[in-house]
Amino acid sequence: MKAGFLEKLVAKLDRVDPAVVQSIVDRLLKEKGFFVQVFEALREGVILLSADGLVNFTNAAACRFFGLDAEQSSGKRLGELIRGMDWQAMMEEDTVVSRDMEVFYPERRYLHFYLAPIHDRELRAGYVMIVNDVTSERAETEATIESERLGALTMLAAGVAHEIGNPLNSLGIHLQLLDRKIRKLEAGERQQLEGHLATARQEIQRLDLILKQFLQAIRPSNLRRAKVQVTQLCRDTLKLLEPELAERGIQVALDFSDDIPILDLDAVQIQQVFHNVLRNAAQAIRSDAGGCITVAMAHNDYELQVQISDNGSGIPPEQMGVLFEPYRTTKEGGTGLGLLIVRRIIREHGGEMEIESREGSGTRVSFYLPLAAKKARLLPEPETVIEITP
Ligand SMILES: Nc1ncnc2c1ncn2[C@@H]1O[C@H](COP(=O)(O)OP(=O)(O)OP(=O)(O)O)[C@@H](O)[C@H]1O
Ligand SMILES: [Mg+2]
Repeated sequence: MKAGFLEKLVAKLDRVDPAVVQSIVDRLLKEKGFFVQVFEALREGVILLSADGLVNFTNAAACRFFGLDAEQSSGKRLGELIRGMDWQAMMEEDTVVSRDMEVFYPERRYLHFYLAPIHDRELRAGYVMIVNDVTSERAETEATIESERLGALTMLAAGVAHEIGNPLNSLGIHLQLLDRKIRKLEAGERQQLEGHLATARQEIQRLDLILKQFLQAIRPSNLRRAKVQVTQLCRDTLKLLEPELAERGIQVALDFSDDIPILDLDAVQIQQVFHNVLRNAAQAIRSDAGGCITVAMAHNDYELQVQISDNGSGIPPEQMGVLFEPYRTTKEGGTGLGLLIVRRIIREHGGEMEIESREGSGTRVSFYLPLAAKKARLLPEPETVIEITP
Protein backbone atom coordinates (compact mmCIF):
# COMPACT_ATOMS: atom_id res chain seq x y z
CA MET A 1 0.00 0.00 0.00
CA LYS A 2 1.61 3.25 -1.14
CA ALA A 3 2.51 6.02 1.32
CA GLY A 4 -0.15 8.72 1.43
CA PHE A 5 -2.80 6.38 0.05
CA LEU A 6 -4.51 5.99 3.41
CA GLU A 7 -4.68 9.76 4.01
CA LYS A 8 -6.31 10.26 0.61
CA LEU A 9 -8.74 7.45 1.34
CA VAL A 10 -9.70 8.90 4.72
CA ALA A 11 -10.32 12.30 3.12
CA LYS A 12 -12.76 10.75 0.65
CA LEU A 13 -14.19 8.12 2.97
CA ASP A 14 -17.82 9.30 2.71
CA ARG A 15 -17.76 8.88 -1.09
CA VAL A 16 -16.09 5.45 -1.22
CA ASP A 17 -18.04 2.25 -1.71
CA PRO A 18 -18.28 0.39 1.68
CA ALA A 19 -17.20 -2.85 -0.05
CA VAL A 20 -13.95 -1.20 -1.16
CA VAL A 21 -13.34 0.08 2.41
CA GLN A 22 -13.97 -3.45 3.70
CA SER A 23 -11.44 -4.97 1.30
CA ILE A 24 -8.81 -2.33 2.19
CA VAL A 25 -9.27 -2.98 5.93
CA ASP A 26 -8.92 -6.73 5.27
CA ARG A 27 -5.68 -6.12 3.41
CA LEU A 28 -4.36 -3.90 6.19
CA LEU A 29 -5.13 -6.54 8.81
CA LYS A 30 -3.39 -9.18 6.71
CA GLU A 31 -0.29 -7.00 6.34
CA LYS A 32 -0.25 -6.31 10.07
CA GLY A 33 -0.56 -10.05 10.74
CA PHE A 34 2.38 -10.69 8.43
CA PHE A 35 4.61 -8.16 10.26
CA VAL A 36 3.60 -9.53 13.65
CA GLN A 37 4.53 -13.02 12.46
CA VAL A 38 7.93 -11.75 11.30
CA PHE A 39 8.55 -10.04 14.66
CA GLU A 40 7.47 -13.13 16.59
CA ALA A 41 9.89 -15.30 14.63
CA LEU A 42 12.91 -13.09 15.39
CA ARG A 43 15.58 -14.26 17.81
CA GLU A 44 16.03 -10.64 18.88
CA GLY A 45 13.60 -9.09 21.32
CA VAL A 46 11.45 -6.32 19.83
CA ILE A 47 9.44 -3.83 21.86
CA LEU A 48 7.47 -1.06 20.16
CA LEU A 49 6.51 2.03 22.13
CA SER A 50 4.17 4.90 21.42
CA ALA A 51 5.41 8.51 21.25
CA ASP A 52 4.51 9.02 24.90
CA GLY A 53 6.48 5.95 25.93
CA LEU A 54 3.72 3.36 26.36
CA VAL A 55 4.34 -0.22 25.26
CA ASN A 56 2.40 -1.16 22.11
CA PHE A 57 3.93 -4.48 21.24
CA THR A 58 6.37 -7.01 22.72
CA ASN A 59 7.47 -10.01 20.67
CA ALA A 60 7.99 -13.50 22.07
CA ALA A 61 11.78 -13.10 22.48
CA ALA A 62 11.38 -9.86 24.46
CA CYS A 63 8.80 -11.55 26.71
CA ARG A 64 11.23 -14.40 27.28
CA PHE A 65 14.20 -12.13 28.08
CA PHE A 66 12.33 -9.96 30.57
CA GLY A 67 9.73 -12.45 31.87
CA LEU A 68 6.81 -10.41 30.44
CA ASP A 69 3.36 -11.26 29.26
CA ALA A 70 2.65 -9.59 25.91
CA GLU A 71 -0.98 -8.75 26.63
CA GLN A 72 -0.44 -7.50 30.16
CA SER A 73 2.51 -5.38 29.07
CA SER A 74 0.50 -3.49 26.52
CA GLY A 75 -0.23 0.12 27.53
CA LYS A 76 2.28 0.08 30.40
CA ARG A 77 5.36 2.26 30.78
CA LEU A 78 8.70 0.54 30.12
CA GLY A 79 9.91 1.46 33.61
CA GLU A 80 7.06 -0.54 35.16
CA LEU A 81 8.01 -3.65 33.20
CA ILE A 82 11.82 -3.42 33.22
CA ARG A 83 13.08 -1.76 36.34
CA GLY A 84 16.45 -0.30 37.14
CA MET A 85 16.98 1.85 34.02
CA ASP A 86 16.13 5.47 33.43
CA TRP A 87 14.07 4.86 30.28
CA GLN A 88 12.56 8.33 30.32
CA ALA A 89 15.98 9.98 30.09
CA MET A 90 16.99 7.65 27.25
CA MET A 91 13.87 8.49 25.30
CA GLU A 92 14.45 12.20 25.73
CA GLU A 93 17.89 11.88 24.13
CA ASP A 94 16.37 11.68 20.64
CA THR A 95 19.25 9.58 19.36
CA VAL A 96 19.77 5.84 19.19
CA VAL A 97 20.81 4.63 22.63
CA SER A 98 22.87 1.42 22.74
CA ARG A 99 23.54 -0.22 26.11
CA ASP A 100 24.32 -3.45 27.92
CA MET A 101 22.23 -4.56 30.85
CA GLU A 102 22.05 -7.49 33.24
CA VAL A 103 18.72 -9.06 34.17
CA PHE A 104 18.19 -11.53 36.98
CA TYR A 105 14.63 -12.59 36.28
CA PRO A 106 13.39 -15.02 34.93
CA GLU A 107 17.03 -16.06 34.59
CA ARG A 108 20.33 -14.28 34.74
CA ARG A 109 21.20 -12.88 31.34
CA TYR A 110 23.34 -10.19 29.83
CA LEU A 111 21.41 -8.27 27.22
CA HIS A 112 22.41 -5.67 24.71
CA PHE A 113 19.74 -3.30 23.46
CA TYR A 114 19.18 -0.41 21.08
CA LEU A 115 16.45 2.09 21.72
CA ALA A 116 15.71 4.21 18.67
CA PRO A 117 13.10 6.91 18.10
CA ILE A 118 10.85 6.47 15.06
CA HIS A 119 9.88 9.59 13.16
CA ASP A 120 7.02 10.17 10.81
CA ARG A 121 7.67 13.31 8.79
CA GLU A 122 9.67 15.12 11.50
CA LEU A 123 7.18 14.11 14.19
CA ARG A 124 8.00 11.58 16.89
CA ALA A 125 5.86 8.52 16.13
CA GLY A 126 7.25 6.22 18.82
CA TYR A 127 10.26 4.10 19.70
CA VAL A 128 11.58 0.71 18.84
CA MET A 129 13.75 -1.32 21.16
CA ILE A 130 15.80 -4.24 19.80
CA VAL A 131 17.32 -6.63 22.35
CA ASN A 132 20.06 -9.23 21.88
CA ASP A 133 21.02 -11.95 24.36
CA VAL A 134 24.82 -11.67 24.79
CA THR A 135 25.11 -13.96 27.81
CA SER A 136 27.35 -16.55 26.16
CA GLU A 137 29.70 -13.95 24.60
CA ARG A 138 29.95 -12.30 27.97
CA ALA A 139 30.76 -15.61 29.69
CA GLU A 140 33.53 -16.17 27.13
CA THR A 141 35.00 -12.73 27.82
CA GLU A 142 34.93 -13.40 31.54
CA ALA A 143 36.69 -16.74 31.03
CA THR A 144 39.38 -14.99 28.96
CA ILE A 145 39.86 -12.31 31.61
CA GLU A 146 40.14 -15.00 34.25
CA SER A 147 42.75 -16.95 32.33
CA GLU A 148 44.70 -13.74 31.64
CA ARG A 149 44.60 -12.93 35.31
CA LEU A 150 45.86 -16.41 36.15
CA GLY A 151 48.57 -16.02 33.53
CA ALA A 152 49.72 -12.76 35.14
CA LEU A 153 49.66 -14.44 38.52
CA THR A 154 51.82 -17.30 37.27
CA MET A 155 54.39 -14.86 35.89
CA LEU A 156 54.42 -13.02 39.18
CA ALA A 157 54.75 -16.24 41.12
CA ALA A 158 57.63 -17.42 38.95
CA GLY A 159 59.34 -14.05 39.45
CA VAL A 160 58.91 -14.09 43.20
CA ALA A 161 60.07 -17.69 43.44
CA HIS A 162 63.19 -16.80 41.51
CA GLU A 163 63.90 -13.84 43.76
CA ILE A 164 63.36 -15.86 46.94
CA GLY A 165 65.08 -18.97 45.63
CA ASN A 166 68.47 -17.30 45.19
CA PRO A 167 68.87 -15.89 48.71
CA LEU A 168 67.60 -19.21 50.09
CA ASN A 169 70.36 -21.02 48.25
CA SER A 170 72.90 -18.60 49.50
CA LEU A 171 71.61 -18.93 53.08
CA GLY A 172 71.96 -22.71 52.79
CA ILE A 173 75.59 -22.39 51.69
CA HIS A 174 76.43 -19.98 54.49
CA LEU A 175 74.88 -22.28 57.04
CA GLN A 176 77.12 -25.07 55.75
CA LEU A 177 80.13 -22.82 56.24
CA LEU A 178 79.00 -22.00 59.77
CA ASP A 179 78.52 -25.70 60.44
CA ARG A 180 82.12 -26.36 59.52
CA LYS A 181 83.39 -23.64 61.86
CA ILE A 182 81.15 -24.77 64.72
CA ARG A 183 82.54 -28.28 64.53
CA LYS A 184 85.94 -26.91 65.45
CA LEU A 185 84.64 -25.38 68.68
CA GLU A 186 84.65 -26.92 72.12
CA ALA A 187 81.86 -29.35 73.01
CA GLY A 188 79.79 -27.07 75.35
CA GLU A 189 79.76 -24.10 73.05
CA ARG A 190 79.25 -26.29 70.03
CA GLN A 191 76.09 -28.00 71.26
CA GLN A 192 74.21 -24.76 71.78
CA LEU A 193 75.19 -23.36 68.42
CA GLU A 194 74.34 -26.62 66.70
CA GLY A 195 70.80 -26.33 68.05
CA HIS A 196 70.40 -22.88 66.52
CA LEU A 197 71.89 -24.10 63.29
CA ALA A 198 69.50 -27.04 63.06
CA THR A 199 66.51 -24.75 63.58
CA ALA A 200 67.73 -22.33 60.92
CA ARG A 201 68.21 -25.26 58.51
CA GLN A 202 64.74 -26.61 59.17
CA GLU A 203 63.19 -23.22 58.56
CA ILE A 204 65.04 -22.87 55.28
CA GLN A 205 63.85 -26.30 54.22
CA ARG A 206 60.32 -25.36 55.11
CA LEU A 207 60.51 -22.16 53.07
CA ASP A 208 61.94 -24.12 50.19
CA LEU A 209 59.07 -26.59 50.38
CA ILE A 210 56.40 -23.89 50.56
CA LEU A 211 57.93 -22.23 47.54
CA LYS A 212 58.01 -25.46 45.56
CA GLN A 213 54.43 -26.31 46.43
CA PHE A 214 53.27 -22.85 45.60
CA LEU A 215 54.85 -22.98 42.18
CA GLN A 216 53.60 -26.46 41.53
CA ALA A 217 50.09 -25.41 42.43
CA ILE A 218 49.99 -22.21 40.47
CA ARG A 219 51.65 -23.33 37.25
CA PRO A 220 49.41 -24.86 34.63
CA SER A 221 50.58 -28.42 34.82
CA ASN A 222 50.36 -31.57 32.85
CA LEU A 223 48.32 -33.95 34.90
CA ARG A 224 50.19 -37.06 35.95
CA ARG A 225 47.28 -39.42 36.06
CA ALA A 226 47.44 -42.78 37.76
CA LYS A 227 44.93 -45.15 39.32
CA VAL A 228 43.96 -43.69 42.68
CA GLN A 229 41.56 -44.60 45.48
CA VAL A 230 40.16 -41.17 46.34
CA THR A 231 38.86 -42.24 49.76
CA GLN A 232 42.43 -43.12 50.70
CA LEU A 233 43.70 -39.75 49.44
CA CYS A 234 41.15 -38.05 51.67
CA ARG A 235 42.16 -40.14 54.70
CA ASP A 236 45.84 -39.37 54.07
CA THR A 237 45.12 -35.65 53.91
CA LEU A 238 43.12 -35.77 57.13
CA LYS A 239 46.07 -37.45 58.81
CA LEU A 240 48.35 -34.60 57.72
CA LEU A 241 45.88 -32.09 59.12
CA GLU A 242 45.36 -34.01 62.37
CA PRO A 243 47.33 -31.60 64.59
CA GLU A 244 45.35 -28.60 63.34
CA LEU A 245 42.02 -30.41 63.69
CA ALA A 246 42.85 -31.66 67.19
CA GLU A 247 43.95 -28.20 68.31
CA ARG A 248 40.51 -26.82 67.43
CA GLY A 249 38.68 -29.83 68.87
CA ILE A 250 37.09 -30.64 65.52
CA GLN A 251 35.27 -33.93 64.94
CA VAL A 252 35.54 -35.43 61.49
CA ALA A 253 32.80 -37.68 60.12
CA LEU A 254 33.37 -39.74 56.99
CA ASP A 255 30.37 -40.81 55.00
CA PHE A 256 31.77 -42.81 52.09
CA SER A 257 29.41 -45.01 50.14
CA ASP A 258 30.63 -48.53 49.44
CA ASP A 259 32.48 -49.43 46.27
CA ILE A 260 33.82 -45.96 45.43
CA PRO A 261 35.63 -46.76 42.17
CA ILE A 262 39.32 -46.27 41.55
CA LEU A 263 39.87 -43.21 39.38
CA ASP A 264 42.52 -42.07 36.96
CA LEU A 265 43.73 -38.87 38.63
CA ASP A 266 46.74 -36.81 39.51
CA ALA A 267 47.03 -37.91 43.14
CA VAL A 268 49.29 -35.04 44.25
CA GLN A 269 46.93 -32.44 42.86
CA ILE A 270 43.73 -34.00 44.16
CA GLN A 271 45.35 -34.27 47.56
CA GLN A 272 46.02 -30.56 47.28
CA VAL A 273 42.28 -30.07 46.66
CA PHE A 274 41.38 -31.97 49.83
CA HIS A 275 44.07 -30.15 51.75
CA ASN A 276 42.90 -26.66 50.74
CA VAL A 277 39.19 -27.33 51.23
CA LEU A 278 39.60 -29.17 54.55
CA ARG A 279 41.92 -26.47 55.89
CA ASN A 280 39.44 -23.77 54.95
CA ALA A 281 36.74 -25.74 56.76
CA ALA A 282 38.92 -26.14 59.85
CA GLN A 283 39.91 -22.47 59.86
CA ALA A 284 36.26 -21.43 59.71
CA ILE A 285 35.57 -23.20 63.02
CA ARG A 286 36.31 -21.54 66.34
CA SER A 287 38.19 -23.81 68.72
CA ASP A 288 35.51 -23.68 71.44
CA ALA A 289 32.60 -24.21 69.06
CA GLY A 290 32.22 -28.01 68.99
CA GLY A 291 33.11 -27.98 65.31
CA CYS A 292 32.43 -30.77 62.92
CA ILE A 293 33.55 -31.49 59.37
CA THR A 294 31.78 -34.11 57.27
CA VAL A 295 33.25 -35.59 54.14
CA ALA A 296 30.73 -37.46 52.00
CA MET A 297 31.56 -39.41 48.86
CA ALA A 298 29.21 -41.15 46.47
CA HIS A 299 29.12 -41.89 42.78
CA ASN A 300 26.79 -42.56 39.91
CA ASP A 301 27.42 -43.94 36.43
CA TYR A 302 29.52 -41.05 35.28
CA GLU A 303 30.92 -39.07 38.20
CA LEU A 304 32.28 -39.13 41.70
CA GLN A 305 30.59 -36.66 44.05
CA VAL A 306 32.51 -35.29 46.99
CA GLN A 307 30.99 -32.97 49.59
CA ILE A 308 32.94 -31.36 52.39
CA SER A 309 30.70 -29.61 54.91
CA ASP A 310 31.59 -27.66 58.01
CA ASN A 311 29.56 -25.96 60.73
CA GLY A 312 31.89 -22.98 60.86
CA SER A 313 31.39 -19.28 60.36
CA GLY A 314 29.90 -19.50 56.87
CA ILE A 315 30.50 -16.98 54.10
CA PRO A 316 28.63 -13.66 53.90
CA PRO A 317 26.68 -13.22 50.64
CA GLU A 318 28.79 -10.27 49.46
CA GLN A 319 31.92 -12.44 49.68
CA MET A 320 30.50 -15.33 47.65
CA GLY A 321 31.19 -13.50 44.39
CA VAL A 322 34.89 -12.95 45.09
CA LEU A 323 35.85 -16.33 46.56
CA PHE A 324 37.96 -17.26 43.56
CA GLU A 325 39.69 -13.93 43.14
CA PRO A 326 43.40 -14.26 43.77
CA TYR A 327 44.68 -12.70 47.00
CA ARG A 328 41.18 -12.19 48.42
CA THR A 329 41.52 -13.46 51.93
CA THR A 330 39.89 -12.77 55.27
CA LYS A 331 42.72 -14.48 57.14
CA GLU A 332 45.87 -13.12 58.60
CA GLY A 333 48.59 -15.00 56.78
CA GLY A 334 46.23 -16.39 54.12
CA THR A 335 47.27 -16.12 50.48
CA GLY A 336 43.73 -16.08 49.07
CA LEU A 337 44.89 -18.59 46.45
CA GLY A 338 43.54 -21.80 47.98
CA LEU A 339 40.16 -21.96 46.26
CA LEU A 340 41.50 -20.66 42.98
CA ILE A 341 43.96 -23.57 42.92
CA VAL A 342 41.21 -26.02 43.89
CA ARG A 343 39.02 -24.89 41.02
CA ARG A 344 41.87 -25.03 38.53
CA ILE A 345 42.75 -28.60 39.50
CA ILE A 346 39.13 -29.75 39.40
CA ARG A 347 38.61 -28.16 35.98
CA GLU A 348 41.83 -29.70 34.64
CA HIS A 349 40.37 -33.06 35.64
CA GLY A 350 37.24 -32.26 33.64
CA GLY A 351 35.20 -31.76 36.82
CA GLU A 352 33.13 -29.00 38.37
CA MET A 353 32.79 -27.48 41.80
CA GLU A 354 30.14 -25.68 43.81
CA ILE A 355 30.09 -23.74 47.08
CA GLU A 356 27.01 -23.20 49.20
CA SER A 357 27.15 -21.33 52.47
CA ARG A 358 24.97 -19.76 55.07
CA GLU A 359 26.51 -17.09 57.24
CA GLY A 360 26.65 -18.24 60.81
CA SER A 361 25.82 -21.89 60.16
CA GLY A 362 28.40 -23.34 57.80
CA THR A 363 29.66 -24.08 54.34
CA ARG A 364 29.50 -26.96 51.91
CA VAL A 365 32.03 -27.35 49.13
CA SER A 366 31.11 -29.97 46.53
CA PHE A 367 33.14 -31.20 43.64
CA TYR A 368 32.40 -33.66 40.92
CA LEU A 369 35.00 -35.68 39.05
CA PRO A 370 34.15 -37.61 35.90
CA LEU A 371 34.74 -41.36 36.26
CA ALA A 372 36.30 -41.56 32.81
CA ALA A 373 38.25 -38.82 31.08
CA LYS A 374 35.86 -37.04 28.75
CA LYS A 375 36.59 -37.86 25.16
CA ALA A 376 35.17 -36.48 21.97
CA ARG A 377 32.47 -38.77 20.67
CA LEU A 378 31.93 -39.44 17.02
CA LEU A 379 28.27 -39.36 16.13
CA PRO A 380 27.07 -42.40 14.20
CA GLU A 381 26.74 -41.77 10.51
CA PRO A 382 23.16 -41.50 9.34
CA GLU A 383 21.95 -44.63 7.67
CA THR A 384 21.98 -44.35 3.93
CA VAL A 385 18.62 -45.06 2.43
CA ILE A 386 18.62 -45.99 -1.20
CA GLU A 387 15.30 -45.52 -2.81
CA ILE A 388 14.59 -47.67 -5.77
CA THR A 389 11.85 -46.40 -7.96
CA PRO A 390 10.42 -48.85 -10.43
N1 LIG B 1 34.70 -23.34 54.60
C1 LIG B 1 34.75 -22.00 54.66
N2 LIG B 1 34.04 -21.31 55.60
C2 LIG B 1 34.08 -19.96 55.66
N3 LIG B 1 34.79 -19.19 54.82
C3 LIG B 1 35.51 -19.79 53.85
C4 LIG B 1 35.52 -21.22 53.70
N4 LIG B 1 36.30 -21.52 52.65
C5 LIG B 1 36.76 -20.34 52.16
N5 LIG B 1 36.29 -19.31 52.88
C6 LIG B 1 36.54 -17.86 52.65
O1 LIG B 1 37.11 -17.72 51.35
C7 LIG B 1 38.33 -17.02 51.40
C8 LIG B 1 39.24 -17.52 50.30
O2 LIG B 1 39.65 -18.85 50.57
P1 LIG B 1 41.01 -19.40 49.98
O3 LIG B 1 41.21 -20.79 50.41
O4 LIG B 1 41.02 -19.12 48.51
O5 LIG B 1 42.11 -18.44 50.62
P2 LIG B 1 42.53 -18.36 52.16
O6 LIG B 1 42.04 -19.57 52.86
O7 LIG B 1 42.13 -17.04 52.66
O8 LIG B 1 44.11 -18.40 52.05
P3 LIG B 1 45.00 -19.74 52.01
O9 LIG B 1 44.18 -20.78 51.33
O10 LIG B 1 46.20 -19.35 51.27
O11 LIG B 1 45.28 -20.07 53.42
C9 LIG B 1 38.83 -17.22 52.81
O12 LIG B 1 39.67 -16.15 53.21
C10 LIG B 1 37.56 -17.28 53.62
O13 LIG B 1 37.12 -15.99 53.95
MG1 LIG C 1 42.39 -21.49 52.11
